Amino acid sequence: MANYNVCTLPGDGIGPEIIAEGIKVLDAVGAKYGATFSYDERLIGGAAIDATGNPLPEETLEAARTADAVLLAAVGGPKWDTTDSSKPRPEQGLLAIRKGLGLYTNLRPVRTFAALSDASSLKPEVIDGVDLMIVRELTGGLYFGKRERFFDEDGAGADGAKGQRAYDTLEYREYEIERIARQAFEMAKVRNGRVHSIDKANVLDTSRLWREVVHRVAAEYPEVELIDMLVDNTAMQLIAYPRQFDVVVTENMFGDILSDEASMLTGSLGMLASASLGDGTALYEPSHGSAPDIAGRGIANPLAQILSVEMMLRYSFDMADAADDIARAVAEVLDEGWRTGDIKQADTDPNQVVGTERMGDLVVAHL
Ligand code: NAD
Ligand code: IPM
Ligand code: MN
Repeated sequence: MANYNVCTLPGDGIGPEIIAEGIKVLDAVGAKYGATFSYDERLIGGAAIDATGNPLPEETLEAARTADAVLLAAVGGPKWDTTDSSKPRPEQGLLAIRKGLGLYTNLRPVRTFAALSDASSLKPEVIDGVDLMIVRELTGGLYFGKRERFFDEDGAGADGAKGQRAYDTLEYREYEIERIARQAFEMAKVRNGRVHSIDKANVLDTSRLWREVVHRVAAEYPEVELIDMLVDNTAMQLIAYPRQFDVVVTENMFGDILSDEASMLTGSLGMLASASLGDGTALYEPSHGSAPDIAGRGIANPLAQILSVEMMLRYSFDMADAADDIARAVAEVLDEGWRTGDIKQADTDPNQVVGTERMGDLVVAHL
C-alpha cells in the first residue's frame, strides 16, 4: 500500500481549524483508495515568528523539501501587522517557501457548484456553468523584485522637505514567462482550448515582454486559441461575462487580485482551492487568508482546504479517482443544503448552517 509523507503547515488564524478537516478527508479517502498518509507538522507564519523569530524556519523548509507534498492552511493576522518594514511578517514565510520550493505555477480553479448559484453576490444567470482556471505566476514580479524603503536625503517635496521613500520593482525574465505560458497552454489543451493572457501591455514593459513570449509559446499550440486582455478590462469581464474564460494566465500580483475577485463567482472565497507546482515538492493551500475576523470560532468554511486536498491527490499522488470522489462528495453535501455561514443563502434551513468540523464530517460521510 502506498504511503505518502505530507508536511502540514497550519499557520495562523483559521489555519489550524481548517487544516484539521483537510487531514480528516485525506485519511478517509486514503482508507477508501488504499493509501496511507503520515503527517509532519511544522511551523510557518506568525506561529513560527512567535516560536523562533523567523516566519520560515530552516527545519520547515527542509521538511517541505523532503515531503511528498505540502498542505498549507493560511498565515498572517493583526498580531503581526505592522507598517515597520524591518519587522518580520508571516507573509514572508509563505513567499519564502514558494521561492524555496521553486513553485512558479499557481493553479486556482474557479468552478460554480450548482447548489451555490445564488450564494454569490452575482446573478445566477451570470455565473451558472462557470469553469475557469487561473494560472498565476508565483515566484516573480513585484513580490520578489528589488525593493527598498529609506529616508530620502535629497529631499522629496517641492518645498525641499526631506521624507521617506520606498519602491518595489516589477521584473520578469523571458524564461519565467515562457515556463508559465507553457503550463497555461498545456492546461488549455486538456480543458476547453482557450487561453486568456492578462497583462497591461499598453503601459508596462514587463507586460510587452510577457505578450511577446506568450505569443511565441502559443505558436507551439495551434489547437489552443489565445486572447490578450488588459488587466483592468479583465477585472470587469470576469464579473460581467465569466463564462468566456477557460484558462487565464497572468503575472503574480494581477493573479492575486483577479483570483480573489473570481472567487465570488463560486459564492465565497472560502471555496477557492489552489495548487502551487514547480520543480520540487508541490504545495496545496486555499486561496484565502487566515480570516482573523472569524478565527477561533469554529465557523470557517473548510471546503477550500478540502478542495486543495483534492488537487493534491490529482497532481502529486496520481489519484484522480480519489480526487473526483472528493469533488463529488462536496457537491452532494452542498446539494443536500449544508452550508457554512459564508455560503448560506436566503432560503437555507437554519438547522443546516454548520461549523467547520461538522462540514468536514459531512464530506467524509459522503465519501
Ligand atoms: P482573508 O482571505 O483572510 O479574509 C477575507 C474575508 O473572507 C474575511 O471576511 C474572511 O472572514 C473571509 N474568509 C476567508 N476565508 C474564509 C473561509 N474559509 N470561510 C469563511 N470566510 C472566509 O483576507 P484578509 O482578511 O485580507 O487577510 C487576513 C490575513 O491573511 C492577512 O494577514 C493576510 O496577509 C493573510 N493572507 C494569507 C494568505 C495565505 O496564507 N495564503 C492569503 C491571503 C491573505
Ligand atoms: C495569496 C495571498 C498571498 C499572496 C499573501 C499572503 C502573501 O494573498 O496566496 O493569495 O499575495 O500571494
Ligand atoms: Mn491573495
